[in-house]
Amino acid sequence: TWTMEHFIDEKVEEIRQIVGDRKVLCALSGGVDSSVAAALVHKAIGDQLYCVFVDHGLLRKGEADGVTETFSKDFHMNFIKVDAKDRFLTKLEGVSDPEKKRKIIGNEFIYVFEEEAGKLKDISYLVQGTLYTDIVESGTHSAQTIKSHHNVGGLPERMMFDLIEPLNTLFKDEVRLLGSELGLPDDIVWRQPFPGPGLGIRVLGSITEEKLKIVRESDAILREEIAEAGLDRDIWQYFTVLPDIRSVGVMGDARTYDYCIAIRAVTSIDGMTSDWARIPWDVLEKISTRIVNQVDHINRVVYDVTSKPPSTIEWE
Ligand code: XMP
Repeated sequence: TWTMEHFIDEKVEEIRQIVGDRKVLCALSGGVDSSVAAALVHKAIGDQLYCVFVDHGLLRKGEADGVTETFSKDFHMNFIKVDAKDRFLTKLEGVSDPEKKRKIIGNEFIYVFEEEAGKLKDISYLVQGTLYTDIVESGTHSAQTIKSHHNVGGLPERMMFDLIEPLNTLFKDEVRLLGSELGLPDDIVWRQPFPGPGLGIRVLGSITEEKLKIVRESDAILREEIAEAGLDRDIWQYFTVLPDIRSVGVMGDARTYDYCIAIRAVTSIDGMTSDWARIPWDVLEKISTRIVNQVDHINRVVYDVTSKPPSTIEWE
């Protein structure tokens, strides 16, 4: 019979056989799939694995530190964190078209990753957290792209590594189980999907540090309150969006003219379709009050009540 322990033993043995004494590279995003793949390969080959984590400055509050803590301090991996924030923000300056932003972020990610890979000599393999569903779906989806999804799967051919894809027989729920079994913390194992371009597509229009800060702070409040209400495993994705508009409000006796924050929270099975989450009103009230009080430049909070289709989950 199939058990997780048996699966781990088998994979560890298989990875050791394949890798021998060679070196393996992994692009760690902190998402469930790449994290579990890295933890499994690390269990098999330890210090022969090198993980590269690119901080593009478009991550959520506390994310870079959390990932560093887990993999560098707790797992003692060869963990290379690249602080590429300035590079990304410079390239993105003044760019407001969603697909242009995606392209810039995706390309820059590859350049940074390639540079780091070049510094490490004699890498033979690349680990990828490809799931069974990724393989099955890729045939049908690629034909009509609504948004170009960037992930590490899009590495150019000039980076010719052989791939190690230890999760390619598993479904998402099995990957979470495996992650827990390997000792990964709940905040990684149960992490909600987070797009490669990160907060870059949640600041609508052109990106500035100030706007990123607004999204980051409001998103942190939303996540805290959703966890507090015990809803974090029921809602597929929940995040805040900063539309590129200002509206009139009143604070004390003074008129304000400032930004608003939109809350997006959806239930879904696979992200292909979704419904808006029926978050209890008192939870929404608390979130709204906290965001307006604690995040500078926000005088209004709205809740997105559209399903996909006709909307998409992200606003860009
Ligand atoms: P949409 O907005 O297309 O999102 O309904 C469906 C799922 O895909 C995620 N998403 C992305 N993931 N790169 C990614 O890696 C992207 O450019 C991207 N755009 C959307 C989105 O968060 C949701 O889970």
